[in-house]
Amino acid sequence: MARKKIIAGNWKMNKTPSEAVALINELKPLVANDEVDVVFCVPAIDIPAAIEAVKGSNIEIGAENMYFEESGAYTGEVAPNMLTDLGVKYVIIGHSERREYFAETDETVNKKVLKAFEHGITPIICCGESLTQREQGITIDWIRQQIKIAFLNVTADQAKKAVIAYEPIWAIGTGKTATSDQAEEVCAAIRQVIGEIYDGATAEAIRIQYGGSMNAGNAAELLAKPDIDGGLVGGASLKPDFGQIVNYNK
Ligand code: 13P
Repeated sequence: MARKKIIAGNWKMNKTPSEAVALINELKPLVANDEVDVVFCVPAIDIPAAIEAVKGSNIEIGAENMYFEESGAYTGEVAPNMLTDLGVKYVIIGHSERREYFAETDETVNKKVLKAFEHGITPIICCGESLTQREQGITIDWIRQQIKIAFLNVTADQAKKAVIAYEPIWAIGTGKTATSDQAEEVCAAIRQVIGEIYDGATAEAIRIQYGGSMNAGNAAELLAKPDIDGGLVGGASLKPDFGQIVNYNK
């Protein structure tokens, strides 16, 4: 069965709750495409307003982060049941910005992935190499390691529902997109390692996104690649261009 494409916006630290509602109302008619799963991952404080604003549309709301404990003395963190209580279906885990600025590691990523599945939230698990790593020729080894740790103790049934986002760090917010061949090479390697950890059926089912300066001009070529099942879009998800990305096939 063909994998359904999944195109998610990562708003990062942009938009107040009232700005979020305005942006959703602007984008709602532009992102109507039933052939694609459309997700807006928004700042935690925007989630209640965003959930209301997307009612009756094809947009699902995701979070940008989540903690791996149920509740307790973790000042400033967001618990998984706070997300599910509002109707959140997806959560980005281990974005490179969280790894760089907030000390997230492969181990905390794994804990968060397990916790998300426990609560029925689909994790969008991020991986990606730095420019130095790419120049050193260790991209595939690095990504394989990130994936192996992220999926420790994750069952095959869970893994089938997971989303992986391959985001080369050098392509994020730089306007420097990976070529479609570079992106495909790594996404295919990710599918291969999932096949090694689990089996062929799991590798075939899991959805792998590309992220890093995806825009209205390059989305169609990237999404035409056999192992690229969607996009995780930063800057362009805050603009009408996101509608063109979601409708790349029209
Ligand atoms: P840009 O699309 O702004 O490069 O960001 C990509 C990203 O980090 C999505 O998570």
